Amino acid sequence: MKQRQPKRVFICQACGYSSQKWMGRCPDCGNWNSMVEEWQTEKATVVEPSTSPISIRDVTAAETGRFTTNLDEFDRVLGGGVVPGAVVLIGGDPGVGKSTLLLQVSEGLVRGYSGQGGKGFPVLYITAEESVEQVKMRADRIGISSSQIFVLSETRLESIIHHIKELQPRLVVIDSIQTIYTDSLSSAPGTVAQVRECSARLTLLAKQSALPMFIIGHVTKEGAIAGPRVLEHIVDTVLYFEGDKYQAYRILRAVKNRFGSTNEIGIFEMTDTGLREVLNPSELFLSPHSEGTPGTILTVTIEGTRPLLVEIQALVSPTVFGMPRRASIGFDLQRLNLLIAVVEKIGGVQLGVSDVYLNVVGGLRIYETAVDLAVASAIVSSFKNIPINRQTVVIGEVGLTGEVRPVSQIERRIKEAKKLGIRKAILPASVEVDGIELIRVNRVTEVFENLVDLS
Ligand code: TYD
Ligand code: MG
Repeated sequence: MKQRQPKRVFICQACGYSSQKWMGRCPDCGNWNSMVEEWQTEKATVVEPSTSPISIRDVTAAETGRFTTNLDEFDRVLGGGVVPGAVVLIGGDPGVGKSTLLLQVSEGLVRGYSGQGGKGFPVLYITAEESVEQVKMRADRIGISSSQIFVLSETRLESIIHHIKELQPRLVVIDSIQTIYTDSLSSAPGTVAQVRECSARLTLLAKQSALPMFIIGHVTKEGAIAGPRVLEHIVDTVLYFEGDKYQAYRILRAVKNRFGSTNEIGIFEMTDTGLREVLNPSELFLSPHSEGTPGTILTVTIEGTRPLLVEIQALVSPTVFGMPRRASIGFDLQRLNLLIAVVEKIGGVQLGVSDVYLNVVGGLRIYETAVDLAVASAIVSSFKNIPINRQTVVIGEVGLTGEVRPVSQIERRIKEAKKLGIRKAILPASVEVDGIELIRVNRVTEVFENLVDLS
């Protein structure tokens, strides 16, 4: 067969758009300077038709075959354990703990399955970024020394596939997809073409041999996994491991999951001996010293399906230079401005010559509107210099006319608050929960008027 000439194309490294011409700006995703020259040779992966149609009634679901990783937080995010043949992409900033997490997951699987039926559970950990010694040092630190974890330092895809076929592991970890390359393409590792081709080939192998595979992917500065659209479509599950490098806790979040819900999150804490599961996350997000300080208030947010008791802090101080400053950490700044406007117009609190700073304790980021009322109350509390009792939670969405709107899963929020010793809740709906005083409000002004009486 005649070898085809390599074809020159320009591929956007952010979204995978390809064009014959170089362009300064990708017409698809609008990124500047993201088009990179790549040479395409042969049509890469050819999938042989190896299956035939089957009636849906006769298909047997593989639901029963899930493997537990012995890390409840991780299993829950996956939807109840690892599905054979599933390809899971794990993204996150460098240094967040992806390699640590997957080493612990490998160990958990080995621990759970070794000895069952006399067979081991070999795991192949392919480290394309670090040396075998570096992985060993990490393993020592976490206290992992299983003989069933095999480490391979390799970046060439063909050789990785050869070793997978030879060792026949029960799980494969690729650390990371951006550092491996295939001989069949001439572009550099980490380019969209390489990432796409390597993941497609690995996915094919995983599906053919019912082999679960975890692929680590780095996140670009814009917060997306490099070549995001191409990658996210190929794999079954996309997880993001996020958290501030300088804070101990980490959140594992499912962005896409073919085998479970994307609502679940797993919370971990980075310790000096690896990641530890956080079973009572609410305690993590409370500051220990805020007893009776103006501007701090407790509320309950829902992350996935879990209620979390969090603390909101506001600081209102006189503006020194002309323009008042508004800054927010962990809460949307636009929404903060909106709430400031409501507090001013409806609540009659004049903030025109005040700086307003907002902080969510513990480094958590809150996206839901159920904490609006808490944010507004914290601002008023700081402005009026009135402390709010620590045993009170404030929950509710605030509308532009100053009405307090109901929020979802109110009962679960109240129960979480009660569990952590809260005595009083201010909320927009009527629910029945024993052992906690519930104050129903319809307008923000009712909360502000009573602010003094909250303690
Ligand atoms: P790592 O898993 O290498 O991150 P990634 O693969 O996402 O780049 O871990 C990164 C950080 O975690 C590193 O800065 C050191 C810290 N760490 C601990 O604090 N305790 C530990 O037990 C380990 C293994 C790492
Ligand atoms: Mg790593």
